Amino acid sequence: MTDDMTAVRRGSEILGAGYYQPATVLTNHELESMVETNDEWIRQRTGIRERRIASDEETVPMMATAAARDALANAGIDASVIDLIVVATVTSEQRSPNTAGRVAVDLDAPSPVVIDINVACSGYVHALAIADQAIKAGTATTALVIASEKLSAVTDWTDRSTCILVADAAAAFVIRRSSRPGISTVTWGTEPELVDAVAIEPPTNKFAQDGKSVFKWAISEAAGYAAKSVTNAGYRIDELGGLISHQANLRIIEPLARQLGMADKIVATDVVTSGNTSAASIPLAFAKMWQAGELPPDTPFLLFAFGGGFAYAGLVARTPRPR
Ligand SMILES: CC(C)(COP(=O)(O)OP(=O)(O)OC[C@H]1O[C@@H](n2cnc3c(N)ncnc32)[C@H](O)[C@@H]1OP(=O)(O)O)[C@@H](O)C(=O)NCCC(=O)NCCS
Repeated sequence: MTDDMTAVRRGSEILGAGYYQPATVLTNHELESMVETNDEWIRQRTGIRERRIASDEETVPMMATAAARDALANAGIDASVIDLIVVATVTSEQRSPNTAGRVAVDLDAPSPVVIDINVACSGYVHALAIADQAIKAGTATTALVIASEKLSAVTDWTDRSTCILVADAAAAFVIRRSSRPGISTVTWGTEPELVDAVAIEPPTNKFAQDGKSVFKWAISEAAGYAAKSVTNAGYRIDELGGLISHQANLRIIEPLARQLGMADKIVATDVVTSGNTSAASIPLAFAKMWQAGELPPDTPFLLFAFGGGFAYAGLVARTPRPR
């Protein structure tokens, strides 16, 4: 087998990460003038202090393209070599062309494969696994894996049980075929009995959830699947640099880290200043921490997400090697 073929068989690695957040900050105190709530309740129940909300011009494709440009710049990769774009989103404004197709044109990428996937909050881990598997199969070499979410557009701003949670953002990784694989096998699946627990459905098409059922599942079941993700990936917990899990609620993230025996490691808590950005939350936390120098290079991190579907997915991804 040639070196090239070996690389195909082995997998892919992350070269760089980027993100985009709207400039407009919405604080808990500002929410107090919109619905019957208060800063203390929101911080105690969720850990969130503030979140970013998109303007009319900040659409799902616009934010996706901005995050992709940032990822390409940080990876030192030109858009001309991108042959696969996968976008995870549950909030795209348009059915066709899909967001990935729009991003390809905006970036002037020659003729990449363009795929949008919707697995709500766990969409990004699914997207990363799908892109990695395409590279392993030899059907792509260099991919942009993006999540872009405008939850503010599918939120009932008079419903205090949901509007305090949501936010808008996009984030992206550039991944490339590698003989030193940096993305592990994925552990993924669904919990059919919770299929309606998180929904954006007619007639309102606004985000609604059975918060208590989701919370209960997250506290009692998530750690089992997350631990299985680590084992299936071929790692032990003590080999990991930390946990970057879906940023839904600090009251879920911290117990998850404790249950996994990872509380003393690096644990992403970006929800505090970014809110819940659905599929974008994991790559957003990763990109911000990596760009700030808070993630050691070439170090394995557990990425674990759950949400609408009711779907979950976990894998271990190594941070980019120093260039
Ligand atoms: C959403 C969540 C923070 C709500 O917390 P909770 O402790 O379950 O709160 P409840 O919905 O039981 O509400 C408790 C009380 O606070 C009130 N309340 C709800 N929202 C409020 C708000 N924004 N401000 C003030 N009070 C509020 C409720 O009306 C209720 O009042 P009552 O006791 O008089 O009836 C929590 O259930 C959660 O995090 N769930 C998981 C969500 C999640 O991870 N989703 C993933 C989707 S991807």
